[in-house]
Amino acid sequence: MKLETLRKLYVTELRSLYSAEKQILLGLKKMKAAAHHDELKQAFEQHYAETEGQINRLEQIFDRLGESPKGQTSKATLGLIAEGEKIIKAKGQSDVIDAGLIAAAQKIEHNEIACYGTAIAYAKQLGDQESASLLQQNLDEEYATDKRLTAMAENSINREATYSTGYYEETSEYSSSSNTGISLSGLLLGAATGVAVGMLLAPSTGSDFRRKISSQANNLFDQFGGQLGSVSDVAKSLLDKFSAQEGKSGGNPSGPQSQNSPYGAGGPKF
Ligand SMILES: [Fe+2]
Repeated sequence: MKLETLRKLYVTELRSLYSAEKQILLGLKKMKAAAHHDELKQAFEQHYAETEGQINRLEQIFDRLGESPKGQTSKATLGLIAEGEKIIKAKGQSDVIDAGLIAAAQKIEHNEIACYGTAIAYAKQLGDQESASLLQQNLDEEYATDKRLTAMAENSINREATYSTGYYEETSEYSSSSNTGISLSGLLLGAATGVAVGMLLAPSTGSDFRRKISSQANNLFDQFGGQLGSVSDVAKSLLDKFSAQEGKSGGNPSGPQSQNSPYGAGGPKF
């Protein structure tokens, strides 16, 4: 490749973006099929439609420049999609797989964000304001998708993956108490304690989070309660205590965390 002008570099960057978007169109279809959460499927579906629009905007730019969109392969996108394929084909817990799909999609988004940023800078430098505006629309959609995926991961899917019962089922060293030094009952107590501490420390405004923790705890007991008898009872009573506390606080700002905080109600003052 010979690069003698900024315009040539600009066109090369645009072709790379065009190649990336075409690959991403196919990747999003597979990611949607592999996703388990409806909200994640919807996010991939929406971004698929946006990506079609982004390809259309890029084609408008190539028309304006009198250049072909072909001739450049985004190898970065090829690699990132190959990474994503590992998650798409993975077997295991649905919440964990969805967390992995979000991470894979965000790596692709971040690469696009970098490339659009560069292309916009070149377009402006070359006085191609109309193309810069079209590219900015694509960039805004990439930012919005990235933000939506972050919110989904942090507000629900990563947490659900954390408390996934698959951890206890699939980690062979933890799956049996008979031939290892690790006791399943100890694990359950540990999990119960973790849940209880999580409920205590959850922000007072995070009543939704606490409800989710409580729900995951019930799943644990449904699964292991029958096998563990008294251990289960002890752990369950611990959780019931905190569940009752949660019921009393009812999302009130003066919930357990505020009352127990060394900073007093309302948390630290800055
Ligand atoms: Fe895109």
